[in-house]
Amino acid sequence: LSSAILQPTPPMGFNDWARFMCNINQTVFTDAVDAMVSTGLRDVGYKLVTIDDCWPEHKRTANGSLTWNTTLFPNGLEWLSDYIHKNDMLFGIYEDAGTETCGGWPGSYGHEETDAKTFASWKVDYLKLDGCNVDSVPGQSDEETYKQIYHKWHTILPELQISFSESAPAYFVSDKSLSDWYKVMDWVPSNGQLARHSYDIATWGSGDVWDSVMTNYGYNIRLPRVQKKGFYNDPDFIIAGDSNLTLTEQKSQFALWSSFSAPLILSSNIPALTKDQLAFLMNKDLIALDQDELVQQATLVSQDSTFDILSKTLANGDRALTILNKGSSAATATVPFSKVGFSSAKSCKYSVKDLWTGETSSLSKQVVAQNIPSHGTAVYRITPSGQCKTITPGGQIFNT
Ligand code: GLA
Ligand code: GLA
Repeated sequence: LSSAILQPTPPMGFNDWARFMCNINQTVFTDAVDAMVSTGLRDVGYKLVTIDDCWPEHKRTANGSLTWNTTLFPNGLEWLSDYIHKNDMLFGIYEDAGTETCGGWPGSYGHEETDAKTFASWKVDYLKLDGCNVDSVPGQSDEETYKQIYHKWHTILPELQISFSESAPAYFVSDKSLSDWYKVMDWVPSNGQLARHSYDIATWGSGDVWDSVMTNYGYNIRLPRVQKKGFYNDPDFIIAGDSNLTLTEQKSQFALWSSFSAPLILSSNIPALTKDQLAFLMNKDLIALDQDELVQQATLVSQDSTFDILSKTLANGDRALTILNKGSSAATATVPFSKVGFSSAKSCKYSVKDLWTGETSSLSKQVVAQNIPSHGTAVYRITPSGQCKTITPGGQIFNT
């Protein structure tokens, strides 16, 4: 199994945080691994298993290394790493760029080489480096301080074959001014493989979860120009199974994240996922959108008070059409092919697959998405035929 760093498509896997927070232990992870294997999640691509915050011992060892909490992980993280690898999966871990993690455990500031070597000795494949407790440096912008620390990790991780998930941009997102946020976006892509750019999706089961999904969606649609092969904008976890989201909303998040070619990192109690939840998480057509070789992030091609319409080009020349109903009642959307950059000429025929139902229709003028439920997302894959293949790309807005 090759290291995650060599994988050209966005990571897919499991992270405990939104579901379990600090209520973790060895069994949470072995149960997740076992369930990912037995349900088939692993075999459709969910291969990365990441331990988030709260795993370390409060004190470093006498030689200055980090070590795991032996109450939570009685067999140790090397054992757990082997368990994950034996199941043909990859092992990810969480640390922080500052003096302490967000939860108050020892951070890696000033210990970068030591900690990276420790992770390598545990055969870690992926590091999520958070950005809490980064002290300001007098006479230097915080943006510059983060840039130096994240760059330092970039000089260490690649030769250890450890993929790098950077949380720096999330520390610069703001309702007032996004100028520092955009500055951070200029350097994160050359340092690592993905970056968290916005807030935490509300912790599993807490209030306003749909609002929080929509907030991160709203930041992600500003960033298509940043995404490229090998670097992915991360709007945070897929929270399938969350009791504060309807099944329609859970499916909607999945369709939107797949349209973005975003990381698909599940923060759920995997063994408790229902048949319906597993079915959409293993929808092969949506996973293929996410993992498409071009890894384009869908861009917004139109927006009104009810619908957001997004589209992207796929490696084989097909286009995705994604329609989000933001409104509070079901509504029908009519989208002419010209909206997604295809000719609406009568002579053109398109094969249009509804990725929720799997049904394919042959259409020539427009797609009519009937009765999209409130907060639902319709998603189609459009294949042009014959002379209709060479049409100019659709317009896009919000490509700031
Ligand atoms: C931050 C991150 C979360 C999680 C917690 C852990 O809030 O954004 O994803 O890692 O820290 O403390
Ligand atoms: C929601 C529903 C899907 C489908 C789409 C679009 O996401 O859960 O079954 O109906 O809307 O129509």
